[in-house]
Amino acid sequence: MRLKPAKRLRGRLTLPGDKSISHRAAIIAALAKGTSTLQNFSTSDDCAATLRCLRALGVSVELHESILDVKGVGLRGFAKPLDTLDCGNSGSTIRMLAGALAAQEFTTTLIGDASLSVRPMRRIIEPLEMMGAKISSVEQRPPLAITGSSELHPINFQPTVASAQVKSCILFAGLHAPGNTTVVERRPTRDHTERLLSFFGIPVSTEEMPNGSTRIAVHGPAQPSAREFRIPGDVSSAAFFVAAASLLEGSDLRIDDVGLNPSRTQFLSVFGLLGLPVKHKILATSGGEPCGYISVTAARTSNQPSFQSANRLPADLVPSLIDELPLLAVVGTQVVGGITVRGASELRYKESDRISATVSNLKAMGAQVREFDDGFAVRGPQPLHGATLQSFGDHRIAMAFTIAALLAHSESELDDAGCVAVSFPEFFDLIQSVVER
Ligand code: S3P
Repeated sequence: MRLKPAKRLRGRLTLPGDKSISHRAAIIAALAKGTSTLQNFSTSDDCAATLRCLRALGVSVELHESILDVKGVGLRGFAKPLDTLDCGNSGSTIRMLAGALAAQEFTTTLIGDASLSVRPMRRIIEPLEMMGAKISSVEQRPPLAITGSSELHPINFQPTVASAQVKSCILFAGLHAPGNTTVVERRPTRDHTERLLSFFGIPVSTEEMPNGSTRIAVHGPAQPSAREFRIPGDVSSAAFFVAAASLLEGSDLRIDDVGLNPSRTQFLSVFGLLGLPVKHKILATSGGEPCGYISVTAARTSNQPSFQSANRLPADLVPSLIDELPLLAVVGTQVVGGITVRGASELRYKESDRISATVSNLKAMGAQVREFDDGFAVRGPQPLHGATLQSFGDHRIAMAFTIAALLAHSESELDDAGCVAVSFPEFFDLIQSVVER
């Protein structure tokens, strides 16, 4: 795909439903009794993979124009699938579904595409085996063959990696185990599972510990009740538009009905600290999730960052803006002081090695950037020139570097634009609808 530089972004958008919320809502609705209706369900390939797996497990799932009806089968109500379940590119699908499958008394084999097949699964295998499931894998990677147990025991687990997927997996298994299943997080991760379980009628306790950790607990067995709500627009999809608009002088953009859960909006705070002209306001909650608008009015582009020490991102923030870090690297090239991210080695285990993908694309655009094992340091401000950009088959790399291409001084080319469908199939059409050249 050829990508031309842009002058500015102008317009008003609403976005398809949040991917993280959609996965969880579909799984919880499947474990509920009764029919749940989820409006504005994510259009992503990843969430389609979750629905495909749920159907193969005997759950009736109907999607019409982004309204999803799920007829819940109740705890342990899944049927043994006839074949392996294909999770595609989706780490959320394989890790979160594994939690629910740990309690079903049959063996399910979960597979994925080439990228998912090399992603680490030890982080979920260990706690689920402690709870009583049996899991075989290929050196702690997919395929995962999960043999569930009808007698799961509750655990108290402190994951070594900060991961909302791991937390959710354990909580979903914990719904089936008699007693308190607790997850202790040293650094906060997105809390959609906690909010949605509460919304579907299951109390989740969240407690701050004296050492700064957070303890999250569910008391099983706990059966969700069917619900209806509208899934807010995906704030991680919004991030790409917000970044471009805030850096292109004369932009005026507003995104309505977008999710503004504080465990996802740290990138907006960082944009603020970098002096970028971004506002957001919570106007309502839906499914226990705050939502509202984000607006950007970029009268002029010179920023006065209030970050100190060369805009080094505090490590505590990393898990709550993990998906926005490649984009933040692009933004760093345009702001005084650039940006430095450390403590983010998890980025190497995403859909691609996002540290190396980010650094190599920035270098291709002529940027000065240093790569570390656990992050990067980007000089800023510095001009970007057009280049041949590589997505590495990774949707977020493709979208972050489409934004870089809009900011560049000459035309670029992207090798694989199709992979954006993993999270945001409408991305290029919506960019086209607001870009002025
Ligand atoms: C997600 C959590 C994050 C994120 C992923 C979606 C979720 O992964 O990178 O895109 O929906 O829970 P980790 O929790 O494993 O970091």
